[in-house]
Amino acid sequence: MSEFRVKAISKLHAEFSVPGDKSMSHRAAILGGLSNGTCTIRNFLPSEDCINTLNAMNALGASYEVLDELESYGPINLRIHGQSMKLSAPAAPIDCGNAGTGMRLLAGLLAGQSFSTELFGDASLSSRPMGRITIPLGQMGAHIETRGEKPGCAPLLIHAAKLHPITYDMPVASAQVKSAVLLAGLFADGETTVIQPAETRDHTERMMASFGMTTRRAGNAISIDGGQVPQACDFTVPGDISSAAFWLVAAAAIPGSRLLIKDVGLNPTRTAILKVLGRMGAHMSEIVHESDGEPIGNIELHGASLTGTTIFIDEVPNLIDEIPVIAVAAALAQGRTIIRNAKELRVKESDRISTVVNHLRAMGAEVDEFEDGMEIEGGKPLHAAVIDSHGDHRIAMAFAIAGLFAEGETVIKNTDCVNTSYPGFAHHLDAILHERSQAADFTLPTVSRA
Ligand code: S3P
Repeated sequence: MSEFRVKAISKLHAEFSVPGDKSMSHRAAILGGLSNGTCTIRNFLPSEDCINTLNAMNALGASYEVLDELESYGPINLRIHGQSMKLSAPAAPIDCGNAGTGMRLLAGLLAGQSFSTELFGDASLSSRPMGRITIPLGQMGAHIETRGEKPGCAPLLIHAAKLHPITYDMPVASAQVKSAVLLAGLFADGETTVIQPAETRDHTERMMASFGMTTRRAGNAISIDGGQVPQACDFTVPGDISSAAFWLVAAAAIPGSRLLIKDVGLNPTRTAILKVLGRMGAHMSEIVHESDGEPIGNIELHGASLTGTTIFIDEVPNLIDEIPVIAVAAALAQGRTIIRNAKELRVKESDRISTVVNHLRAMGAEVDEFEDGMEIEGGKPLHAAVIDSHGDHRIAMAFAIAGLFAEGETVIKNTDCVNTSYPGFAHHLDAILHERSQAADFTLPTVSRA
């Protein structure tokens, strides 16, 4: 089992790009596989989570060819052969690994097929709530059995079913649930509507538009008509702002640092992390343009002495994946940071409220835990600790960042999980730890297969 060993750094001057966006890579594999032709997907995230979704689409009939791959990981540029919405029964149960997004979106896709499919995942995924998708999909006529040891959890046995459209008032603000219902809606006759309690990431709607499909938005309600066929197209995935967040926090907390992250997704439903770091004192500028229906660009950040902040309730869905590393920034800032209304963190890849609170305390930070979040009194010096990731990629990476500010050598145990979202993180961490700044030090090795 691999580990990171991290020591304090005194400067950070770097320009690089992070791997492709995880949310968009899942969706590109799914819409490409449903499309009416061949699609070239560029900068796909070659992480275990997204490769599982690509392989799921392959098992459902949509084969793909790798054009270029990230050495020892998997495809970054690929061609996927769409099946014009006509999927075929998989020969075996489908492995979703660690990916909540993969499993929940695929469940929506598979709920209205003429064959049955089983979806399973690892121990973490098998303990995460699936009722949030089986309930709305059940209302559409799906028949899904949750066969996990824990009630309402995976494996999912999705039986053949004929779906009808519904209007679903979503109790939690979840892009995965919204996307599962919209994908199921494609296989129902008529208009399916999902009403969100708060805005969530809108990559599904944007990517559907790139594939020539129509969704309608009225306030926080999104509607889709069944029977649409995604039109084959090429799609370039921007860098993942949730991966960039680790380095943005590291640079933000070092006065005098400069970090330029290139070609990263800047979709406004994902950029609350920038607003939060700005409120905490970091200086930032962004140059934004549009690519394949998504805002994308460069972020230049200059570090400063940080001060605590309050995360607003409507920001929470926008930065839910960044909260572990925001908590690290809070521990490094002067004053109090309040992170509440974030109960969803308890059902992520680990219980991210308790893992973050315990690990920050182990490193000397002052933290109060609440059922729905935490409050951090920043500014206490951090010291090294041995940190277990609990198999959660974002915990491993967030505490590698904490280690960059701690006295002594911090050891992060159980770091293989990082490959579920950020292949190459260890390479980038090594360059930052050694205070390298050349672009070549951050380039991840690719191999052509074309
Ligand atoms: C995602 C949505 C979020 C996020 C996850 C990716 C997506 O989950 O935490 O990492 O791609 O739709 P929820 O929908 O459960 O909030």
